Amino acid sequence: MSGINIVSTGGYAPLLAVTNDDMSRIVDTNDEWIRTRTGISQRRMSNCEPTWYMGAMASKQAIERAGIDPKEIGLIISSTITNDFVTPSAACLIQRETGAVNAAAFDLGAACSGFVYAVDTACRFLATDDSLKYVLISANENLSYITNFTDRSSCVLFGDGAAAVILEKSDKLFTSWLGADGTGAKFLYAKNEYAHSPFTTEEHFTVDDQTDPEVKHRLLVQDGKEVYKFATKALPTAAKNAADKIGLDINDIDLFIPHQANIRIIETAAKNLGVSMDKFFTNIDMHGNTSSASIPIALNEAAEKGVLKRGMKVCLVGFGAGLTLGAAIIEY
Ligand code: ACO
Repeated sequence: MSGINIVSTGGYAPLLAVTNDDMSRIVDTNDEWIRTRTGISQRRMSNCEPTWYMGAMASKQAIERAGIDPKEIGLIISSTITNDFVTPSAACLIQRETGAVNAAAFDLGAACSGFVYAVDTACRFLATDDSLKYVLISANENLSYITNFTDRSSCVLFGDGAAAVILEKSDKLFTSWLGADGTGAKFLYAKNEYAHSPFTTEEHFTVDDQTDPEVKHRLLVQDGKEVYKFATKALPTAAKNAADKIGLDINDIDLFIPHQANIRIIETAAKNLGVSMDKFFTNIDMHGNTSSASIPIALNEAAEKGVLKRGMKVCLVGFGAGLTLGAAIIEY
Protein backbone atom coordinates (compact mmCIF):
# COMPACT_ATOMS: atom_id res chain seq x y z
CA MET A 1 0.00 0.00 0.00
CA SER A 2 1.35 3.45 -0.81
CA GLY A 3 1.86 5.81 2.10
CA ILE A 4 0.51 9.05 3.48
CA ASN A 5 1.87 12.35 4.64
CA ILE A 6 0.41 14.11 7.68
CA VAL A 7 0.22 17.62 6.26
CA SER A 8 -0.98 19.22 9.50
CA THR A 9 -2.69 18.62 12.83
CA GLY A 10 -5.16 20.60 14.92
CA GLY A 11 -6.85 20.22 18.28
CA TYR A 12 -9.64 21.42 20.51
CA ALA A 13 -9.80 20.99 24.27
CA PRO A 14 -12.89 22.23 26.15
CA LEU A 15 -12.06 25.05 28.57
CA LEU A 16 -13.67 23.29 31.53
CA ALA A 17 -10.97 21.42 33.46
CA VAL A 18 -12.19 18.90 36.05
CA THR A 19 -9.56 17.94 38.62
CA ASN A 20 -9.40 14.78 40.72
CA ASP A 21 -10.49 16.86 43.71
CA ASP A 22 -13.57 17.90 41.72
CA MET A 23 -14.28 14.20 41.06
CA SER A 24 -13.95 13.46 44.78
CA ARG A 25 -16.89 15.78 45.39
CA ILE A 26 -19.22 13.58 43.30
CA VAL A 27 -17.96 10.03 44.07
CA ASP A 28 -16.01 8.41 46.91
CA THR A 29 -12.51 8.80 45.51
CA ASN A 30 -9.38 10.92 45.99
CA ASP A 31 -6.56 12.48 44.02
CA GLU A 32 -3.96 9.99 45.27
CA TRP A 33 -5.99 6.90 44.19
CA ILE A 34 -6.70 8.29 40.74
CA ARG A 35 -3.14 9.47 40.09
CA THR A 36 -1.44 6.27 41.25
CA ARG A 37 -3.90 3.87 39.52
CA THR A 38 -4.35 5.79 36.26
CA GLY A 39 -1.83 8.65 35.92
CA ILE A 40 -4.68 11.15 35.51
CA SER A 41 -4.60 14.53 37.31
CA GLN A 42 -7.37 16.27 35.42
CA ARG A 43 -9.59 15.88 32.39
CA ARG A 44 -11.25 18.46 30.14
CA MET A 45 -15.02 18.25 29.99
CA SER A 46 -17.44 19.67 27.48
CA ASN A 47 -19.44 22.53 28.95
CA CYS A 48 -22.25 21.79 26.48
CA GLU A 49 -20.00 22.03 23.40
CA PRO A 50 -21.45 19.46 20.98
CA THR A 51 -19.22 16.71 19.61
CA TRP A 52 -19.43 18.07 16.05
CA TYR A 53 -18.45 21.55 17.29
CA MET A 54 -15.26 20.30 18.93
CA GLY A 55 -14.43 18.38 15.74
CA ALA A 56 -15.08 21.43 13.58
CA MET A 57 -12.82 23.62 15.75
CA ALA A 58 -9.97 21.08 15.57
CA SER A 59 -10.52 20.63 11.82
CA LYS A 60 -10.47 24.36 11.12
CA GLN A 61 -7.13 24.62 12.91
CA ALA A 62 -5.69 21.72 10.89
CA ILE A 63 -6.94 23.26 7.61
CA GLU A 64 -5.48 26.65 8.52
CA ARG A 65 -2.13 25.13 9.45
CA ALA A 66 -2.06 23.11 6.20
CA GLY A 67 -2.62 26.34 4.27
CA ILE A 68 -5.04 24.60 1.92
CA ASP A 69 -8.40 25.59 0.50
CA PRO A 70 -11.11 23.48 2.25
CA LYS A 71 -12.63 22.92 -1.19
CA GLU A 72 -9.59 20.71 -1.96
CA ILE A 73 -10.63 18.18 0.71
CA GLY A 74 -12.30 15.20 -0.98
CA LEU A 75 -13.18 13.12 2.08
CA ILE A 76 -13.95 13.71 5.76
CA ILE A 77 -13.85 10.79 8.16
CA SER A 78 -15.06 11.58 11.65
CA SER A 79 -14.19 9.05 14.34
CA THR A 80 -16.64 9.06 17.25
CA ILE A 81 -18.69 6.89 19.58
CA THR A 82 -20.46 9.93 21.01
CA ASN A 83 -22.13 11.62 18.09
CA ASP A 84 -24.77 14.20 19.00
CA PHE A 85 -27.24 12.71 16.52
CA VAL A 86 -28.23 9.25 15.35
CA THR A 87 -28.22 11.04 12.02
CA PRO A 88 -26.71 13.17 10.51
CA SER A 89 -23.13 12.11 11.06
CA ALA A 90 -20.69 14.40 12.85
CA ALA A 91 -18.67 14.29 9.61
CA CYS A 92 -21.49 16.05 7.70
CA LEU A 93 -21.69 18.80 10.33
CA ILE A 94 -17.91 19.22 10.24
CA GLN A 95 -18.16 19.49 6.44
CA ARG A 96 -20.78 22.25 6.86
CA GLU A 97 -18.66 24.17 9.37
CA THR A 98 -15.35 23.92 7.52
CA GLY A 99 -16.65 24.75 4.03
CA ALA A 100 -15.22 21.52 2.64
CA VAL A 101 -18.04 21.51 0.09
CA ASN A 102 -16.44 18.93 -2.22
CA ALA A 103 -15.90 16.32 0.49
CA ALA A 104 -17.80 13.10 1.00
CA ALA A 105 -18.34 12.61 4.71
CA PHE A 106 -19.00 9.71 7.05
CA ASP A 107 -18.52 8.66 10.67
CA LEU A 108 -16.48 5.67 11.72
CA GLY A 109 -17.04 3.84 15.02
CA ALA A 110 -14.23 1.69 16.37
CA ALA A 111 -14.11 3.16 19.89
CA CYS A 112 -10.60 3.94 21.18
CA SER A 113 -9.05 2.38 18.04
CA GLY A 114 -11.15 4.66 15.83
CA PHE A 115 -8.40 7.07 14.80
CA VAL A 116 -6.09 4.26 13.69
CA TYR A 117 -8.98 2.63 11.79
CA ALA A 118 -9.64 6.02 10.13
CA VAL A 119 -5.98 6.48 9.12
CA ASP A 120 -5.93 3.00 7.55
CA THR A 121 -9.21 3.75 5.73
CA ALA A 122 -8.00 7.15 4.50
CA CYS A 123 -4.80 5.58 3.18
CA ARG A 124 -6.82 3.07 1.14
CA PHE A 125 -9.05 5.82 -0.30
CA LEU A 126 -5.98 7.86 -1.25
CA ALA A 127 -4.29 4.83 -2.82
CA THR A 128 -7.26 3.97 -5.04
CA ASP A 129 -8.61 7.39 -6.08
CA ASP A 130 -6.23 9.59 -8.06
CA SER A 131 -8.66 12.52 -7.92
CA LEU A 132 -8.53 12.61 -4.11
CA LYS A 133 -6.03 15.23 -2.93
CA TYR A 134 -6.65 15.66 0.80
CA VAL A 135 -8.48 13.66 3.47
CA LEU A 136 -9.54 15.26 6.75
CA ILE A 137 -9.81 12.96 9.75
CA SER A 138 -11.42 14.41 12.83
CA ALA A 139 -11.70 12.38 16.04
CA ASN A 140 -14.21 13.95 18.40
CA GLU A 141 -15.50 12.56 21.65
CA ASN A 142 -17.89 13.74 24.33
CA LEU A 143 -17.40 10.81 26.67
CA SER A 144 -19.25 12.78 29.35
CA TYR A 145 -22.43 11.96 27.31
CA ILE A 146 -22.08 8.27 28.25
CA THR A 147 -20.07 8.33 31.50
CA ASN A 148 -21.79 6.85 34.53
CA PHE A 149 -20.97 9.54 37.11
CA THR A 150 -22.11 7.26 39.95
CA ASP A 151 -19.53 4.55 39.10
CA ARG A 152 -16.24 5.62 40.69
CA SER A 153 -14.20 2.90 38.98
CA SER A 154 -14.96 4.26 35.51
CA CYS A 155 -16.07 7.91 35.76
CA VAL A 156 -12.65 9.12 36.91
CA LEU A 157 -11.04 7.85 33.70
CA PHE A 158 -12.76 9.81 30.94
CA GLY A 159 -12.49 13.24 29.34
CA ASP A 160 -13.74 15.10 26.26
CA GLY A 161 -11.91 16.65 23.31
CA ALA A 162 -11.13 16.54 19.62
CA ALA A 163 -8.21 16.58 17.21
CA ALA A 164 -7.85 16.49 13.44
CA VAL A 165 -5.30 15.75 10.73
CA ILE A 166 -5.04 16.57 7.03
CA LEU A 167 -3.59 13.68 5.04
CA GLU A 168 -2.27 13.45 1.49
CA LYS A 169 -0.80 10.63 -0.58
CA SER A 170 2.94 10.10 -0.30
CA ASP A 171 5.60 7.47 -0.93
CA LYS A 172 6.85 7.76 2.66
CA LEU A 173 7.00 4.62 4.81
CA PHE A 174 3.57 3.39 5.88
CA THR A 175 2.16 0.21 7.32
CA SER A 176 -0.94 -0.58 9.33
CA TRP A 177 -2.72 -3.49 10.91
CA LEU A 178 -6.26 -3.66 12.32
CA GLY A 179 -7.95 -6.30 14.47
CA ALA A 180 -11.08 -7.00 16.50
CA ASP A 181 -12.46 -9.54 18.98
CA GLY A 182 -16.23 -9.33 19.32
CA THR A 183 -16.28 -11.97 22.07
CA GLY A 184 -14.97 -9.22 24.36
CA ALA A 185 -17.91 -6.87 23.64
CA LYS A 186 -19.29 -7.60 27.11
CA PHE A 187 -16.24 -6.07 28.84
CA LEU A 188 -16.91 -2.50 27.69
CA TYR A 189 -20.17 -1.26 26.23
CA ALA A 190 -22.86 1.41 26.25
CA LYS A 191 -26.31 0.44 25.01
CA ASN A 192 -28.45 2.50 22.70
CA GLU A 193 -31.99 3.40 23.69
CA TYR A 194 -34.52 3.11 20.88
CA ALA A 195 -38.26 3.34 20.56
CA HIS A 196 -40.19 0.11 19.93
CA SER A 197 -42.62 -0.15 17.06
CA PRO A 198 -46.30 -0.65 18.07
CA PHE A 199 -46.05 -4.14 16.54
CA THR A 200 -43.32 -5.35 18.93
CA THR A 201 -44.38 -8.38 20.99
CA GLU A 202 -41.07 -9.29 22.69
CA GLU A 203 -39.38 -7.36 25.49
CA HIS A 204 -35.85 -8.42 24.51
CA PHE A 205 -34.18 -9.72 21.40
CA THR A 206 -33.97 -13.44 22.15
CA VAL A 207 -30.39 -14.10 21.03
CA ASP A 208 -27.98 -13.78 23.97
CA ASP A 209 -25.85 -10.76 23.13
CA GLN A 210 -23.64 -11.28 26.23
CA THR A 211 -24.30 -7.82 27.66
CA ASP A 212 -26.21 -7.56 30.94
CA PRO A 213 -30.01 -7.51 30.24
CA GLU A 214 -30.52 -5.74 33.57
CA VAL A 215 -28.59 -2.68 32.32
CA LYS A 216 -31.33 -0.34 31.10
CA HIS A 217 -29.35 2.88 30.75
CA ARG A 218 -27.12 4.05 27.89
CA LEU A 219 -24.04 4.70 30.02
CA LEU A 220 -20.68 2.95 29.81
CA VAL A 221 -20.38 -0.40 31.57
CA GLN A 222 -16.83 -1.60 32.08
CA ASP A 223 -15.05 -4.63 33.50
CA GLY A 224 -11.86 -2.72 34.34
CA LYS A 225 -9.70 -5.79 35.05
CA GLU A 226 -10.61 -7.52 31.76
CA VAL A 227 -10.06 -4.32 29.78
CA TYR A 228 -6.71 -3.88 31.51
CA LYS A 229 -5.60 -7.44 30.61
CA PHE A 230 -6.70 -6.99 26.99
CA ALA A 231 -5.09 -3.56 26.59
CA THR A 232 -1.64 -4.56 27.87
CA LYS A 233 -1.51 -7.36 25.25
CA ALA A 234 -3.29 -5.46 22.44
CA LEU A 235 -0.76 -2.62 22.24
CA PRO A 236 2.30 -4.85 21.59
CA THR A 237 0.30 -7.20 19.32
CA ALA A 238 -0.94 -4.38 17.08
CA ALA A 239 2.42 -2.59 16.92
CA LYS A 240 4.33 -5.80 16.12
CA ASN A 241 1.81 -6.96 13.51
CA ALA A 242 1.97 -3.60 11.70
CA ALA A 243 5.80 -3.56 11.77
CA ASP A 244 6.05 -7.21 10.64
CA LYS A 245 4.01 -6.46 7.51
CA ILE A 246 6.97 -4.52 6.09
CA GLY A 247 9.77 -6.27 8.00
CA LEU A 248 10.39 -3.23 10.21
CA ASP A 249 12.26 -3.73 13.49
CA ILE A 250 10.16 -2.36 16.35
CA ASN A 251 13.34 -0.75 17.74
CA ASP A 252 13.60 1.40 14.60
CA ILE A 253 10.44 3.28 15.57
CA ASP A 254 11.34 6.69 16.99
CA LEU A 255 8.12 7.53 18.82
CA PHE A 256 5.03 5.64 19.99
CA ILE A 257 1.79 7.56 20.42
CA PRO A 258 -0.55 5.11 22.15
CA HIS A 259 -4.20 5.43 23.09
CA GLN A 260 -4.14 7.30 26.40
CA ALA A 261 -6.19 4.85 28.49
CA ASN A 262 -4.20 4.57 31.69
CA ILE A 263 -0.51 5.20 32.36
CA ARG A 264 -0.12 1.77 33.99
CA ILE A 265 -1.52 0.09 30.84
CA ILE A 266 0.99 2.01 28.69
CA GLU A 267 3.92 1.21 31.02
CA THR A 268 3.08 -2.52 31.16
CA ALA A 269 2.48 -2.68 27.41
CA ALA A 270 5.79 -0.89 26.70
CA LYS A 271 7.54 -3.49 28.85
CA ASN A 272 5.74 -6.32 27.01
CA LEU A 273 6.88 -4.79 23.72
CA GLY A 274 10.46 -4.42 24.98
CA VAL A 275 10.57 -0.68 24.28
CA SER A 276 11.64 2.01 26.76
CA MET A 277 8.96 4.39 28.07
CA ASP A 278 11.21 7.23 26.83
CA LYS A 279 9.88 6.46 23.36
CA PHE A 280 6.24 6.78 24.44
CA PHE A 281 4.48 10.13 24.29
CA THR A 282 1.82 10.50 26.98
CA ASN A 283 -0.47 13.33 28.04
CA ILE A 284 -3.07 11.35 29.96
CA ASP A 285 -2.29 13.36 33.12
CA MET A 286 -3.98 16.48 31.68
CA HIS A 287 -6.67 14.95 29.42
CA GLY A 288 -7.75 11.58 30.82
CA ASN A 289 -9.03 8.99 28.36
CA THR A 290 -10.77 10.68 25.42
CA SER A 291 -11.37 7.44 23.45
CA SER A 292 -10.64 7.84 19.74
CA ALA A 293 -9.62 11.49 20.17
CA SER A 294 -6.75 10.57 22.50
CA ILE A 295 -4.18 9.53 19.85
CA PRO A 296 -4.63 12.61 17.61
CA ILE A 297 -4.77 14.93 20.66
CA ALA A 298 -1.41 13.46 21.71
CA LEU A 299 -0.10 13.60 18.12
CA ASN A 300 -1.05 17.27 17.85
CA GLU A 301 0.56 18.04 21.19
CA ALA A 302 3.75 16.10 20.33
CA ALA A 303 4.01 18.07 17.06
CA GLU A 304 3.33 21.41 18.79
CA LYS A 305 5.96 20.69 21.46
CA GLY A 306 8.52 19.65 18.85
CA VAL A 307 8.80 16.15 20.36
CA LEU A 308 7.57 14.80 17.04
CA LYS A 309 9.87 15.94 14.24
CA ARG A 310 9.66 15.52 10.47
CA GLY A 311 11.32 12.31 9.30
CA MET A 312 10.58 10.42 12.51
CA LYS A 313 8.95 6.99 12.31
CA VAL A 314 5.91 7.15 14.57
CA CYS A 315 3.66 4.31 15.67
CA LEU A 316 0.03 5.24 16.44
CA VAL A 317 -1.48 2.37 18.41
CA GLY A 318 -5.03 1.99 19.68
CA PHE A 319 -7.12 -0.54 21.63
CA GLY A 320 -10.60 -0.32 23.08
CA ALA A 321 -14.23 -1.34 23.07
CA GLY A 322 -15.43 -3.85 20.54
CA LEU A 323 -12.92 -5.14 21.40
CA THR A 324 -10.80 -3.43 18.74
CA LEU A 325 -7.09 -2.86 18.24
CA GLY A 326 -4.84 -1.47 15.56
CA ALA A 327 -1.59 0.29 14.72
CA ALA A 328 -0.39 2.56 11.95
CA ILE A 329 3.32 3.25 11.48
CA ILE A 330 3.95 6.48 9.60
CA GLU A 331 6.93 8.59 8.66
CA TYR A 332 6.04 12.06 9.94
N1 ACO B 1 -11.40 5.76 43.93
C1 ACO B 1 -11.12 5.03 45.03
N2 ACO B 1 -11.24 3.70 45.07
C2 ACO B 1 -11.66 3.08 43.95
C3 ACO B 1 -11.96 3.79 42.76
C4 ACO B 1 -11.82 5.18 42.80
N3 ACO B 1 -12.08 5.96 41.72
N4 ACO B 1 -12.35 2.90 41.84
C5 ACO B 1 -12.29 1.69 42.38
N5 ACO B 1 -11.88 1.79 43.66
C6 ACO B 1 -11.66 0.75 44.62
C7 ACO B 1 -12.42 -0.52 44.33
O1 ACO B 1 -13.74 -0.45 44.81
C8 ACO B 1 -11.60 -1.55 45.05
O2 ACO B 1 -11.95 -1.51 46.43
P1 ACO B 1 -12.09 -2.88 47.27
O3 ACO B 1 -10.74 -3.52 47.20
O4 ACO B 1 -12.49 -2.39 48.61
O5 ACO B 1 -13.14 -3.66 46.53
C9 ACO B 1 -10.17 -1.02 44.93
O6 ACO B 1 -10.29 0.36 44.60
C10 ACO B 1 -9.36 -1.71 43.87
O7 ACO B 1 -10.15 -1.81 42.70
P2 ACO B 1 -9.61 -2.49 41.42
O8 ACO B 1 -10.71 -2.57 40.41
O9 ACO B 1 -8.86 -3.75 41.79
O10 ACO B 1 -8.56 -1.40 40.95
P3 ACO B 1 -7.51 -1.53 39.80
O11 ACO B 1 -6.17 -1.41 40.36
O12 ACO B 1 -7.83 -2.71 38.94
O13 ACO B 1 -7.81 -0.23 38.95
C11 ACO B 1 -8.95 0.58 37.00
C12 ACO B 1 -9.09 0.00 38.40
C13 ACO B 1 -8.16 1.87 37.10
C14 ACO B 1 -10.33 0.84 36.42
C15 ACO B 1 -8.17 -0.45 36.16
O14 ACO B 1 -8.79 -1.70 36.21
C16 ACO B 1 -8.08 -0.02 34.72
O15 ACO B 1 -7.44 0.96 34.40
N6 ACO B 1 -8.68 -0.78 33.82
C17 ACO B 1 -8.69 -0.41 32.41
C18 ACO B 1 -9.86 0.44 32.18
C19 ACO B 1 -9.70 1.37 31.03
O16 ACO B 1 -8.65 1.81 30.66
N7 ACO B 1 -10.82 1.67 30.47
C20 ACO B 1 -10.86 2.67 29.49
C21 ACO B 1 -11.77 2.38 28.41
S1 ACO B 1 -11.14 1.23 27.33
C22 ACO B 1 -9.82 1.78 26.76
O17 ACO B 1 -9.62 2.94 26.64
C23 ACO B 1 -8.88 0.75 26.41
